[in-house]
Amino acid sequence: MNIDINNLPEHVAIIMDGNRRWAKVKGVSKAKGHREGAKALKQLVKDASVLGLKYLTVYAFSTENWKREKDEVNEIMNLLREFLNECEKDYANEDYVVDFIGDSKMLAKDIQDKMDRVREKTRNKNGMHLYIAINYGGRDEIIRAIKKLVASGTKDITEQIFAKFLDITGVPDPELIIRTSGEKRISNFLSWQSAYSEFYFTDTYWPDFTIEDLKEAIADFQNRNRRFGGI
Ligand code: FPP
Repeated sequence: MNIDINNLPEHVAIIMDGNRRWAKVKGVSKAKGHREGAKALKQLVKDASVLGLKYLTVYAFSTENWKREKDEVNEIMNLLREFLNECEKDYANEDYVVDFIGDSKMLAKDIQDKMDRVREKTRNKNGMHLYIAINYGGRDEIIRAIKKLVASGTKDITEQIFAKFLDITGVPDPELIIRTSGEKRISNFLSWQSAYSEFYFTDTYWPDFTIEDLKEAIADFQNRNRRFGGI
């Protein structure tokens, strides 16, 4: 797929959906579907970083995902542990920054500690910034931001000032948001930041999503006419 490498969106965000349906089609367990999803993410992070993307935000676990069966939640948390362990082990050979959005206070203490270590170890890297959304909800992020803003005593409230209280600051809003698996909704992802995002939907289930699919989404994005409410 041909894309204009000098005109990449700076920030791409992805709703990684369809792990369980992928597993159903293959006749394997849900756990295997999530495991393949985690593998797809690892590969995409490396490939997107080489491509030259500046910011990639991925939705790994929403504030609503706690409603799933306990075993499935445990499996996703264990995959997250493995993912963080590998980030920590490989950080010397990789050039990307890893950070997180969402309310991490609800997560197991060992996961929070791993997140802190990975954030700390990768923070001075020069490559792509990966933001993993864990226990994240767009509305929850806005409410937490309002609480921080009120506690700060700030009286002069503008969009720019409010945005400083959100989970990621100093990062451009995502120009492109991708959702895999054929579903066409936003599911409480980046509610504030997506005000002017372009959306791209693909039927591909997340475990099958590769850099080629990302390039296809970027090519589609590059053909769009963004007007931001103007003419
Ligand atoms: C959506 O598929 C996927 C999730 C809710 C979890 C996302 C998890 C991963 C990509 C793997 C873990 C990676 C990390 C870093 C923890 P679904 O389960 O909603 O599938 P369905 O839509 O077919 O039911």
